[in-house]
Amino acid sequence: MKTVFVTGADRNIGLEISREFLRRGWFVYAGRYIMDLGYLDELKAEYPETMQIVDADVASMESLKAAAEAVKQTTGTLDMVVHNAAAFGDHAPNAQAVDFSRFWIPYNVNALGAMRLVQAFMPLMQQGMKRLCFVSSEAGVVSVAHRTEVSSYCMSKTALNMALRLMFNQLQPEGWTFRLFHPGWVRSAKDGRPARGGKFEPWEAAASAVPQFIEDREWEDRMVLIDNEDAAWPF
Ligand SMILES: NC(=O)c1ccc[n+]([C@@H]2O[C@H](COP(=O)([O-])OP(=O)(O)OC[C@H]3O[C@@H](n4cnc5c(N)ncnc54)[C@H](OP(=O)(O)O)[C@@H]3O)[C@@H](O)[C@H]2O)c1
Repeated sequence: MKTVFVTGADRNIGLEISREFLRRGWFVYAGRYIMDLGYLDELKAEYPETMQIVDADVASMESLKAAAEAVKQTTGTLDMVVHNAAAFGDHAPNAQAVDFSRFWIPYNVNALGAMRLVQAFMPLMQQGMKRLCFVSSEAGVVSVAHRTEVSSYCMSKTALNMALRLMFNQLQPEGWTFRLFHPGWVRSAKDGRPARGGKFEPWEAAASAVPQFIEDREWEDRMVLIDNEDAAWPF
């Protein structure tokens, strides 16, 4: 049975990605970050034999090392990681209005979190599929950027895209494969509030993501940001 670890799996896209893997017969290690939310427990009740909830804060190397250790207790090999966790951070109308103390969190979670995840789990993945998957966003694509406010989220996703490019340059020749996914504009609900806008449901984004993550490509020597409608973006 194939195995995957998903970060930020408590709700919305991460929860639905976990569910989609479970439906397809994978064993899912679902990273829990929001301790007082019950959706992961409900999913675990549906799939008691093929799911394990693992505490994971991608902003902390200690937390991810402990998560990798917990996964290692039940499997010798992890096939795939999915970095889905994200922090959305602060916007400022212009560069003069930036509160620098609030710009750090998305960078730390979205970009450095991806790097910590890979560092923590690589030793467990050496004998598996060696597939590294990341949920990014068109919001980080410099060449088609259309927003005018200064957004810590957009900047952090650009940093994520660059981190992955550098990682790819190093690891792809060693047999690691990469997926970089943009889920489209998704109706993700927050803190009991319904989503504000969006074109797709979280389960629809997951239904596009998981086949991209699972299926092998004949062109693994290229890394491409692909969205939920199979369109390729520059990154
Ligand atoms: N929704 C969209 O339209 C859209 C578009 C493009 C890309 N994306 C990407 O899709 C992914 C999922 O987003 P979503 O829409 O499902 O929003 P979401 O529900 O906010 O998902 C992100 C999850 O990551 C968690 N998280 C925050 N900090 C974390 C940490 N340090 N460690 C582990 N988890 C942490 C969040 O918890 P808290 O809520 O408690 O912070 C949240 O549960 C993200 O990477 C996002 O950037 C979404």
